[in-house]
Parts: sequence; C-alpha cells; structure tokens
Amino acid sequence: MKEVKVNLGNRSYPIYIGSDLIANTQAYENLIKTDQVLVVTDSNIEPMYLTGVLKALNSFDADSYILPPGEDQKNLTNLNNIITELLTRRFSRTGCLVALGGGVVGDLTGFVAACYQRGIQFLQVPTTLLAQVDSSVGGKTAVNHPMGKNMIGAFHQPCGVLADVGVLKSLPDREYKAGIAEVIKYGLIRDPEFFVWLEDNIDALLELQPQALEYAIERSCINKAQVVAEDETEKGVRAILNLGHTFGHAIETGLEYSSWLHGEAVGLGMTMASYMSHLMGWLSEEDHGRIVKLIQRAGLPDKLPTQLQDVDLRELMSVDKKVSHGRLKLVLLKSIGEAVVTDTFDEDVIARTINTYR
Ligand code: GLY
Repeated sequence: MKEVKVNLGNRSYPIYIGSDLIANTQAYENLIKTDQVLVVTDSNIEPMYLTGVLKALNSFDADSYILPPGEDQKNLTNLNNIITELLTRRFSRTGCLVALGGGVVGDLTGFVAACYQRGIQFLQVPTTLLAQVDSSVGGKTAVNHPMGKNMIGAFHQPCGVLADVGVLKSLPDREYKAGIAEVIKYGLIRDPEFFVWLEDNIDALLELQPQALEYAIERSCINKAQVVAEDETEKGVRAILNLGHTFGHAIETGLEYSSWLHGEAVGLGMTMASYMSHLMGWLSEEDHGRIVKLIQRAGLPDKLPTQLQDVDLRELMSVDKKVSHGRLKLVLLKSIGEAVVTDTFDEDVIARTINTYR
C-alpha cells in the first residue's frame, strides 16, 4: 500500500492507495477515531461493495444510507434527508460519515458532514478513477442549485481517503477513460516528468495494470495534495486544477449535462486550452501535438459534439464560476508542466480555438 499525506496542519490526513483496501478493517480502524459510523452510498455501488465495507467496519456501530445514482442526487433535498436520518439515529457530533462512491456521493456526503452540527468527520472511499485522483482529495464539498453546479458548498477536509485500485475494474470503460483526463491534467499543469511517464505508459493504464495504476494515482494525489496544501481555499494557485474546465463546463452546459461525462468534456477542454496556448505563442506546435496525441490515445473526444455546432460556446463560458468581476479567467499552458491563470487574451484567439474544434 502507498500513502500520500495532505499537509494541512491539524486537518492533515493520509490517502491510502492500493489493492483490497475497500474491505480492509485495519485501514478503517487507522482512519476513523469514533465508534458511530454511517456509510452513504448509491444503489449502483451497494450490491458490489457495501456488504464488504460494513463487514470491515464490524468493530464500529455502523449502518448505511442508500441514494439513487446520478448527478441530480446532489441536491438540498438529499442533504436534508440524510440529516434527518442522522438526527433520527441520534448520530453524535463525534460520529463519522463514510462516502462510498464516486464524486456525487463524495461531494454530497462531505457537505452533509460539513453542515451536521457545524461539522463532523467523514472518510472518502472513492470508487471511480476521477474521484480517486481529484474530487475525494482537497475538501471541496457541495450540492447543486438549479441555477448552477456546486453552487452551495463548503471546504471541509475528510479524515482520510481510501483509494482501492481494484474497484476500478468494475467501472464502465468510458467512465474509466474520463478519469484518465484528470490524471493527464497533473502532468500538464505541474509535472512534466509525469507527462512523459504517461506518454510511455498510457497503454498499461488502459489495460488497468495494477502497478501502473497505483503509480498514476499516487503521483496524481501527490500533485493534488501539494497544490491543496499551498492554497486550500483557492485564493490563487489551486485554480490551475481547473485546466480545461472552462471549455469543459461550456460543453457540459451546452449538452445539458446529458451525453458527455465530466472527464470527457475536461479532456477536450484541455486540448482546446492547449491549442489556445499555442496560438498565444506559449506552447510549441510540437508540444501541442504531444498533448493532442496523448488525450486521443486515452480514448477521449477530440472534437466538439455535433449538437453544439450552432451553440455559442463563448457565451456559455461566461457563466462559468471562474468569471471574476466580469472578466473570464482561463487556465492555459506556458509549456508542458507549467500552467498560468490569465484574464488577458484576445477574443479572437478564443473564437479561433472554438472554431478549430467544431
Ligand atoms: N477539482 C478541483 C479542485 O479540487 O480544486
């Protein structure tokens, strides 16, 4: 088992990465310092893992709460329902929630933990690659508002993260590849050696070779942990974690969050950010080509969906959270391994970028 530490003073916590962790009693006993536990999961994950997790938790007073699957479950009604469940069970302030699932379960459970009696412990047990390398680490928790994703939330760090690479075998192929987009992101924004490693090992990752996977998750989590330790509440450098997300969110919004997965939109968003960085004279044509090739080899989309042919993507980019005082901020690349956040660019360059990927 590998261990990566997120260093945040008295809110520091470990990320355990390895095989057979999800049902490992010792891992839970190391991380949960209380006796009362509620596991929150969804009905897709429940039949695969819940029994094993509850068995591993048998030295605790543990029970479970099952949600329907899907992004639309990240809402205030479920927040309230889980809190009602906790109150009914007389769940104590020292109790611990366990988020067993992907980003939706993690974000919602984390936000319940942030709110219940002004904040209780929670443990992240992410079951998708995207959640293992991104959303379970760093304490962003939220639910959606009808007017925008993640518009109601809090920074609330977990007491630990258990990333079991074995569970990724049961992920649908598209969802797995969508997670690889976020892995590639770390190479692009701050880890050029890791980018080269990914160029050499993308096939091993696509074959889910355990050693390659453990290494890729560890290296991604090290990068994420360092950024979060430097800027927990996104006042500055943490924004680089949003590479590809402004183009990506515009694609997701244009498609009404229906046909593309978040990681797929981020994958094409990174390609577009790379092209724009090339047009701005920062990224060489050769490096842009390497980025396009790696994202293509990962099986991620390389063109905008036909449904968006006539949609004004630039307009959709303006409603992104990353707009500050009316100015759009974009994460772009000075080189492979060096990201910048900028609000200084020609509109023409964005227009050329969007038209190139139609
Ligand atoms: N997913 C981006 C962040 O955690 O800041």
